[in-house]
Amino acid sequence: MSLKALKEHKLAEIIGAGLESEDKALTRLDDVKNRIGEEIFVRGWVYRKRHLNDVNFVLVRDGFGIIQSTIRKNEVDKSSWDYSEEVYIESVVKLIGTVIEDERAPEGVEIKVREFKTEFKGDPFPISKDQSTEMLLDIRHLSVRKQGIMNALKLKAQLVRSCREFLDNREFIEIQPPMLNVSACEGGSTLFEVKYFDKIAYLSQSGQLYSEAVVAAYPLVYVMAPSFRAEPSRTPRHMTEFWQLEPEMAFYNQNMNMKLQEEMIEYVCHELAKKQKSILERFKRDPKDLLAIKAPFDRITYTKAIDMLKEKGIEIKWGDGIGLDEEKILTKELSQPVFLTNQPKVLRAFYMKENPEDPRTVLDADMLAPEGIGEIIGGSERISDYNELILRMKAQNLNQKDYEWYLDIHKYGQVPHSGFGMGTERVIRWMAKLETIRDAIPFPRTMNRLYP
Ligand code: 4AD
Ligand code: MG
Repeated sequence: MSLKALKEHKLAEIIGAGLESEDKALTRLDDVKNRIGEEIFVRGWVYRKRHLNDVNFVLVRDGFGIIQSTIRKNEVDKSSWDYSEEVYIESVVKLIGTVIEDERAPEGVEIKVREFKTEFKGDPFPISKDQSTEMLLDIRHLSVRKQGIMNALKLKAQLVRSCREFLDNREFIEIQPPMLNVSACEGGSTLFEVKYFDKIAYLSQSGQLYSEAVVAAYPLVYVMAPSFRAEPSRTPRHMTEFWQLEPEMAFYNQNMNMKLQEEMIEYVCHELAKKQKSILERFKRDPKDLLAIKAPFDRITYTKAIDMLKEKGIEIKWGDGIGLDEEKILTKELSQPVFLTNQPKVLRAFYMKENPEDPRTVLDADMLAPEGIGEIIGGSERISDYNELILRMKAQNLNQKDYEWYLDIHKYGQVPHSGFGMGTERVIRWMAKLETIRDAIPFPRTMNRLYP
């Protein structure tokens, strides 16, 4: 702080100079309730503003919390008052004041302001209360500041952190597969084409095939990366770009694969419940729901699921796909996830190993989240036999030329192996009871949305 500023008592300059550069001087808004009676310095964005006679109530947010500050005309100098008069929603402000208890304030405390300054006034913020979802998505670069989105992003970060922790503790290593590929992992119909010099490349649908190569070098790997799907579906659970966590394990059979999944989901549910309790509560999710998630989860074979659906009066027969509607019916009443296993071979990906007990089906499992959410994980034991793989690729009309390298790994030191892929946004949709997975990613991409 310059001596000149002090002498001339230019309050704005005093707040502007120095104070915030001393770490300790800046109080985070989630800490204000612990500082009753103290004079503190805070800065943040104007969240809301109210005016009553000669008092301005300015709610300030800083990403950690939201606190009300009160600026009384007869208690502050003119410059502070003028600043508090001029600010817009989302203007950046800094202030010095004393923390007092006030049960009328949203957090039970407020800051009685001594000095107030606008750091960045900006333009009037274009988001008001009753804007349509589409309009808010059009200006996602601004609406990403909304509390609901920010909280979902915090949960997502915790989920990813906890998953990594779980796998790292078991000596998995994280690897990075290419995003530009020559062939499909999950079927040709949802590939995005990219011009690659004089060739065509495809955006990765999954890192799985590459992980299957790497598990022959080190047996426990995982990928946390975007997956791209030219998915024309307009549902609350599909995007064209989403983040998938994909562990792949050498020497794991399908039972070991499912056990790992349920233990991981139990772990992350408990971690979220413990570490993000207040955010979950804001989403009307009782953390106890997540603490109650306990492995092992039930396993329902596809054949049994078809019978269950028929019993409920649904028109469906063996061989039909189980889609969103059916998954909803199967999971509506549940409070724990469940595995849907052994689906018909013809409906499933080419790399899934045949079920020796019923060769019409494969050794796969989708983990369905409860409360009608449905699939959050897809996984399987992989075909490890070269000839079985060739036959399956022929049956599915896949061009072997595109998969030569993948076939190659089945010729040299191949072992039984399994893996799974978890859609991170779908998990957050379940845990935070979100309407749509679009709110679990800062900038969603769907068939109709490539901007901003
Ligand atoms: O079931 P999927 O297609 O499986 C795979 O990609 C395998 N290669 C995974 C593996 O075994 N390594 O996708 C896996 C998960 C789904 O269960 C779902 O949670 C999510 O990814 N997912 C999507 N999430 C959002 N939008 C979409 N369009 C999604 N498609 C799949
Ligand atoms: Mg799937």
